[in-house]
This record gives sequence, structure tokens and C-alpha cells, in this order.
Amino acid sequence: MRLGRSADCVEWSLQLPLIEAILALKQELGATILAHTYQAPEIFHGVADITGDSLALAEAAVEAPGDLIMVCGVHFMAESVKLLAPGKTVLIPDANAGCSLADAINAEDIRQLRRQHPGVPVVCYVNTSAAVKAECDACCTSANAVSVVESLGSEEVIFVPDRFLGAWVASQTKVRLRLWQGSCEVHEKFTARQARQARDQHDAVLLAHPECPPEVLAEADFVGSTSAMSRWIERARPRRVALVTECTMADNLRVLHPQTHFVQPCQLCPHMQKITLPAILRALRTLAPQIHIDEEVAKRARLALERMLLAGRDARG
Ligand code: 13P
Ligand code: SF4
Repeated sequence: MRLGRSADCVEWSLQLPLIEAILALKQELGATILAHTYQAPEIFHGVADITGDSLALAEAAVEAPGDLIMVCGVHFMAESVKLLAPGKTVLIPDANAGCSLADAINAEDIRQLRRQHPGVPVVCYVNTSAAVKAECDACCTSANAVSVVESLGSEEVIFVPDRFLGAWVASQTKVRLRLWQGSCEVHEKFTARQARQARDQHDAVLLAHPECPPEVLAEADFVGSTSAMSRWIERARPRRVALVTECTMADNLRVLHPQTHFVQPCQLCPHMQKITLPAILRALRTLAPQIHIDEEVAKRARLALERMLLAGRDARG
């Protein structure tokens, strides 16, 4: 547990009883807690066994010991875990923790795209429902999107649902991409002006998530997934860094990189914020809500995820 630099003493004393209750119950149940990088520090550093981006969490699910997994993240992340670890009980502290990208497209939209563009393979960002994944050829995260798109061996690929991630991938590959018009309600709010200000006023290096609009990415010194940004900081050890992504990530990294000063224009994900310590404790006590996926859907969605893991294995970015 590493909360020292991420919360002040008063906050700490309020969180401690809940953290202790969760740790005790987790041990008693033999549960593994996975937490995304956008989870609050008291979850990320206080109770999680494994932390990381969506790809790292999906992979960790396969290796996790025991039969009970709690996913502290949004609903599509918990579904990915259930797809890869179908024999395990997968809990999410709040089943209403959604995602504007996952809500931007449904299974029928994909079927219609296939009718409109016969023979063109479809790649979906992991930020989609299991039902959407089941209709796609392969899945990707922002860490492996380019290699997944190229792995299909097609000159043209339909890429859904994030138009900004799609535009960024298109700028990195010769494959022609047809984009869906979805966006992340958090990253779409960043502006180029904010990014320039964060960099220039603080003399900071600018790292941005590819879900940001292209004019923001054009200002960035480095563009990458949450884990890629994290690794970049570990390698470069900059004095000051502006992270243009959900701002809880900076709260978490501050603890791991005390030599670096984090500045950022702050945007919070309202869905990630639904996951709280009381919700985690309640879910462990009641063993609910659990993730269930129709077996036929799961079988096809798993194929798309497994294709991603195969293509992305050598291409961590
Ligand atoms: P990562 O895969 O980079 O962790 O991103 C997930 C996400 O939801 C970003 O908004
Ligand atoms: Fe979805 Fe955006 Fe929240 Fe990530 S930050 S979970 S993409 S709404």
C-alpha cells in the first residue's frame, strides 16, 4: 500500500478503515483486485493487486490466482476480463460505470457496416461491449492498435468507434481506415490551447493519450496509451510533465515518480469515479454485481480479443 504522497493525512485517516476492511475480506475470499490507471489513488495504491491499462488488466485476468476477480474500472473492462477468464467469478463495484465510446456503437451498427463494405475487416477498440466485439475481426487497445490493424493484411480496415484514436492510427500506417464517429467524452474536451499552455507555462514535456483530438496530439512530445506514457516517464525521468489524459492518472504516477512534477489540464472520467471504496467493499460482501455474458456472444468476442493479444504481444508501445 503506497498512499503517502497521494492523499493528505486527514483524507488518509478517513480511508484507512475501509481499506483495511477490503484487504481483510479480499484475503478471506482469495479475491484478486485489478485496477485501471484512472482509478482513485486509494484504490490504485490502497487495495489493488494488479494495476495497468486495459490490455494489462485483460492479460492479468488470465494469470490471476483464485476464482474471484474484482475489476475496478468501467464495464467493458470487466467484460474483457470475463471473456478471457470465463471460469472465474468477475465482479465490478458499480455496473453503471459505462464509457461514452462503448455507448457510441452497437452490434447492429457493425453488421450494417459489413453490409455496406463487404470483405473489409473490422477492428474495434477494446472500449466496446462484448456484443460489439463479437461482430468484429479483431480488437485493439491504444497500445497495440497499429499492429492489430496491420496484422489483418488488408489495404482497408473499418476502425470503430473512436474517431480520434482512428485518425491517429491512420497517421501511423499505410492501411486505409474507415472511421466511426465516436469519441471519449473526457479526452475530446482537451484543446490545443490548453495543451500549449500546460507545456509553455510550466516548461513541461507534453504526453497525450491518442483519444485526444488531432490538434492536441500535434502539440504533444509523445502520444501513447496510459501504460506507454507511464513507461516513457520511467525511462526519461523528466523534471516536469504535462499529462493530457484523465487526471487521476497523474495522481497515481506522482506516487511512483517523486522526482517528477506533474502538471495537467484536469478532466475526470465520471464513469471511473463511480468506483469507490464503499462500492468495492459492498461488492465483496454481496458478491454482486457479477459480469455475465451470453455464451454464443462470448465465444465470438473472445476470438476478437485473442487475435488482439496475438498481434499486440510484440508491439507494446
Ligand atoms: P488505456 O487502454 O490507454 O488504458 O485507455 C483506456 C481508456 O479508457 C482511456 O480513456
Ligand atoms: Fe471511456 Fe473516456 Fe472514461 Fe476512458 S476516459 S472510460 S474512454 S469515457
